Amino acid sequence: MSTPSVLFVCLGNICRSPLAEGALRAVAARAGVTILIDSAGTGNWHVGDAPDPRAQAVAARHGVDISALRARQVRAEDFHRFDHIVAMDRDNLAELRRLAPADAPARLSLMLDHVPGRKGKSVADPYFGDASGFGATWEEVLAGAEGLLDRITQPRR
Ligand code: 4NP
Repeated sequence: MSTPSVLFVCLGNICRSPLAEGALRAVAARAGVTILIDSAGTGNWHVGDAPDPRAQAVAARHGVDISALRARQVRAEDFHRFDHIVAMDRDNLAELRRLAPADAPARLSLMLDHVPGRKGKSVADPYFGDASGFGATWEEVLAGAEGLLDRITQPRR
């Protein structure tokens, strides 16, 4: 079987999806599972930027270094390159459905679809709030990453 692959998507690719990328990298490494992981934004305002300093700080507090990540925008080929494209919220999921080529094999989902009891819910955007919001974001993306790892390693469950 080829290496499973996951693309996380939010609006700016500087807050939620880089944290999701960091969280899945951490839980996959701990489990000894190889997954190709990336993140992107539906918007283009922050292309080339490092993650928001508040996102970098909360990841670092949990032992995860996301400082080298750089924002990019979703592109059509992503729908062919990734098995799973996981949106942080419903608006971005709707935008992904609009962008997806008709024959694209990628499976689209919401991050919290992978968390028991949270199906259909959005990871709130912490960008316009204060630093404490990023702690909640980390907890949500970590739970999503753990659920996603289970789904990838035990696809029949
Ligand atoms: P993200 O947060 O989608 O989690 O990266 C945002 C970052 C930037 C903006 C909005 C949300 N913005 O409007 O620039």
